Amino acid sequence: MTTNIIKAQISDINILVDMHIRHIGDSFFSYLGKKFLRIIYAELIFSKYASTYVYINDGHIIGYISFILNKKLLFIKILFTKSFVILFSLNFISFLKCIFYFFSSIGYIIKKQYCKSELLFIAVNDDYKKNGIGSKLVDFAETIIKQNNIYKVQVSINDENIISQILIKNKKYIFYRIINFYGKKMNMYYKQL
Ligand SMILES: CC(C)(COP(=O)(O)OP(=O)(O)OC[C@H]1O[C@@H](n2cnc3c(N)ncnc32)[C@H](O)[C@@H]1OP(=O)(O)O)[C@@H](O)C(=O)NCCC(=O)NCCS
Repeated sequence: MTTNIIKAQISDINILVDMHIRHIGDSFFSYLGKKFLRIIYAELIFSKYASTYVYINDGHIIGYISFILNKKLLFIKILFTKSFVILFSLNFISFLKCIFYFFSSIGYIIKKQYCKSELLFIAVNDDYKKNGIGSKLVDFAETIIKQNNIYKVQVSINDENIISQILIKNKKYIFYRIINFYGKKMNMYYKQL
């Protein structure tokens, strides 16, 4: 296991949010704004049901991966402890978007999922792409998931995100189903760890 990958800290939140907006801008989470993302990343760093690891080069974060160990429990925790903070983090427009995304994602929310753990976000800064860092972050996340006695993981990737699909297919993830999430076609993959 490479020592370049370490657990994210609270002080990393702004960097992670900026990287998210820069690299994963076309996503439901980005559309709801920076304040919303900060709340979500705080959960992805601190919750016992999720984790975030950063890839460090020369003391700087150049990549990261966030993953969930138990989606249902994380969702319930956010619903009961963060609903008001999230509502107040949204402006009127993003509040309307939130409602729209909720209804356009019902299929994803209620349809059978492959398993409770999921690779959620991954990004590598442009200057460092194609050096195997994304691949190492996925391997690392899988190791941590297994250390938590979880042996199945899923990932949903926007149909247009070809590079992430290459990465995931190279890691022997298997196509499971197409889902509609916030009006976008997503391909869900799974892997037995
Ligand atoms: C997806 C991403 C994390 C991959 O990071 P990376 O460090 O460049 O990935 P790697 O160098 O480990 O490459 C992984 C595989 O993808 C392939 N790949 C990477 N970039 C590619 C490109 N531009 N074209 C074709 N294949 C590519 C590599 O050849 C490699 O294949 P291999 O395992 O056969 O060698 C990075 O492109 C990124 O940050 N994208 C934007 C954020 C994003 O879309 N995240 C996913 C949604 S959350």
